[in-house]
Amino acid sequence: MKIGIHDLEVATTHYVLDLDTLAERHGIDPKKFSIGLGQDAFSMPAPDEDIVTMAAEAADTLLARHDVSKIRQVLFATESSVDQSKAAGVYLHELLGLPANVRSVELKQACYSGTAALQMAVNAIARTPEEQILVITSDVARYALDTGGEPTQGAGAVAMLVTANPNLVEIEPGSGFHTSDVNDFWRPNDSTTPYVDGQLSLDAYLTATTAAWDDLAARRDLSIDDVDKFLHHQPFTKMARKQLAALAEHTGHELSDELIEESMSYNRALGNTYTASLYFALTAQLHNNADLAGKRLGFFSYGSGAVAEFFTGVVQENYRDHIYPEHVAKQLENRVELTYDEYRTLHSDFAATSETYTTQPTTHAPFRLSGVTEFQRRYEAQ
Ligand code: COA
Repeated sequence: MKIGIHDLEVATTHYVLDLDTLAERHGIDPKKFSIGLGQDAFSMPAPDEDIVTMAAEAADTLLARHDVSKIRQVLFATESSVDQSKAAGVYLHELLGLPANVRSVELKQACYSGTAALQMAVNAIARTPEEQILVITSDVARYALDTGGEPTQGAGAVAMLVTANPNLVEIEPGSGFHTSDVNDFWRPNDSTTPYVDGQLSLDAYLTATTAAWDDLAARRDLSIDDVDKFLHHQPFTKMARKQLAALAEHTGHELSDELIEESMSYNRALGNTYTASLYFALTAQLHNNADLAGKRLGFFSYGSGAVAEFFTGVVQENYRDHIYPEHVAKQLENRVELTYDEYRTLHSDFAATSETYTTQPTTHAPFRLSGVTEFQRRYEAQ
C-alpha cells in the first residue's frame, strides 16, 4: 500500500521586506544577500498574524477540497510556538470546524519536527489506512536586529494531508537519521529571538545531513544516483547548494545544481520558514517541474541542536492534476512591501503576550489574531 502526501497548501504573511532595502540601509552589497545567501526578500507577520493564522489559512484552503470527517490527527510542527502548554493545532479546531474526535498535538525539534510529524502520520496510516492526518508546519523565523541572521528571517506555513493512495508523493519506508548534541542555534524560554552560532550551524547542518545519508545508505539498497531530485531544508537557499557540494565530495559522485534548482524559488522569496522550509522546497519542485511523474525525491531535513533525517518519496503519476501554483503566486503577490523604518518598528513591536488588541486588521487573510486578553490568545475568522 502506498502512503504519503495526498495534497498540500501554503500560506505566508501580510508583509514582505525586500533585501535590497535592508542592504542599502546597512551599507551592504545587495549581492551578498541575492548571491551569497541566495535570498531576495522575507515575509514578516503583521501584529494580527502568527503561526496559527498562517496554519489556519493553509489548512482551510486545503480542507475545502476534502472530507474533514476523515481526519483523525492534527500534528502541528513549529519552533516558534505561541504557548508553552497548549498545542497550536488546538486553536485550529474552532477556527476550521475540525471534528472533536481528533488527536491534536504540537511537535518541536527546531526546523526538523515537520519531518517527524510527517513520518508519524505515515506510520499511523499504515495501521488505519481509511483515516487521514493533517500535518502542519508553520513558523515565524525572527532574528535580532543587526545580527548575521537578520537577512535570513521569514515566515510561512505548509499544510499537508497524509493518506493512503496519495495523489502527490508516496513516502518510501526507510530513513537515515543523525542526532548530536550541538549548540548551533537555540532559543531559551525567556527570549523572543534565538541565539545562533552562524558558522557552527553551517558545519553542523553539513555534518548531520551527510551522516543521515550514510545511515540510510547502510540500511537501504539505494545509490545516490537513484535519487532524481534533492530537496533541502533551506535556512537560506545557498545552503542547499553547499549541502549538495558536500554530498558530492563525500560520495564521490558528480551532483549537478540541476538536481535542486527548481526547489528554491519559494524559499528565495519567503526567507527561512523553519519547519516549513523543506516542504516549501517540495512545493516549488512540484510546481516548477512538469516531468516528475515516477521520479524519486530525496529529502534532507535538518533542525539545529541537532537532528537530521534523509528520506525518499516517489512522485505520483497524475500529480500535475492536484497542484495549485496560482495559490502560491497569489500569496506572494498579495504581500505588502515594508519600508525599512516600518520594518524596524514592526520588529520591535513583536510578542503580544499580555493585554493587547490588534487594531489594524490585515484584510486579505481569512483568519486573524484579534488580541490577547487575560493572557489568552483570541483568534477570529474574517
Ligand atoms: N557578492 C556575492 N557574495 C557575497 C558578497 C558579495 N558582495 N559578500 C559576501 N558574499 C558571500 C560570502 O562569500 C558567503 O558565501 P559562502 O558562504 O558561499 O562563502 C555568503 O555571502 C555569506 O557571507 P558571510 O560573510 O559568511 O555572512 P555572515 O557572516 O553575515 O553570515 C550566516 C552568514 C549564514 C552565518 C548568517 O546569515 C547566519 O547566522 N544565519 C542564521 C543561521 C543559519 O541560517 N544557519 C543555517 C543552518 S540551520
